[in-house]
Amino acid sequence: MSDSGQGQRQRALGAGAYSRAGLHFYDAGVLGISSRFIWRCPSGRVLDLYQANVSDNHLDVGVGTGYFLDRVQFSSPAPRLGLMDLNGNSLIHTAQRLIRYRPEIYQADVLTPIASDIETFDSIGLNYLLHCLPGPMAAKAVAFDNLRPLLRPGGAIFGGTILRHGIRLPLQARALIATYNAMGIFGNSQDSLVDLQSALEDRFEQVQVESSGCVGLFSARVPA
Ligand SMILES: C[S@@+](CC[C@H](N)C(=O)[O-])C[C@H]1O[C@@H](n2cnc3c(N)ncnc32)[C@H](O)[C@@H]1O
Repeated sequence: MSDSGQGQRQRALGAGAYSRAGLHFYDAGVLGISSRFIWRCPSGRVLDLYQANVSDNHLDVGVGTGYFLDRVQFSSPAPRLGLMDLNGNSLIHTAQRLIRYRPEIYQADVLTPIASDIETFDSIGLNYLLHCLPGPMAAKAVAFDNLRPLLRPGGAIFGGTILRHGIRLPLQARALIATYNAMGIFGNSQDSLVDLQSALEDRFEQVQVESSGCVGLFSARVPA
């Protein structure tokens, strides 16, 4: 298989892991148990990151089940909320869960250029998406390039990603990362905290990166 064929297959697997049945398991199994006990980053830490950066004109990318969007407090009762994902099951599930916000839905692959007729947002969240994407950080950072035109001047981009290098990695986390990479569910075997920081600093300002367990939590802004 060619490099691009391999990349596409892995991309499809990363997004394809979210069947309708899988989505029901995700909140309790992944965000409840794995986040706390394997990745050592309780979901409360991620929710704090959302709360600090979300705006009332927000696009979420790689929405999964919409767990954090369902819990974060918007300052307006009627925020503009965009949902973007490669996987239609995730979009339907999350849109139904967040129907109270009448979300806009975009089915798109963040690794390819995104339609330019979408009105811009003041914040973009891409939580637990980067570690699903294939290749080294330089390849997956194409997602930042594709999303940047969707951010207004001064807008924030933020999220968390499970890393393989530059953090303390307990044995069970090391084993699970190896298994998920072999299965094509994760593509983070080369991801490090320092490469995440560089990828953000090359594109944005006010970059903040910190680790919580095996997770790199980040936020950055486009110049005002
Ligand atoms: C691990 S889930 C993260 C869910 C959610 N953001 C959270 O924090 O719980 C990853 C999500 O990214 C989506 N995804 C994977 N690859 C993608 C791609 N290339 N483009 C857009 N979405 C993708 C998957 O379909 C899935 O919904």
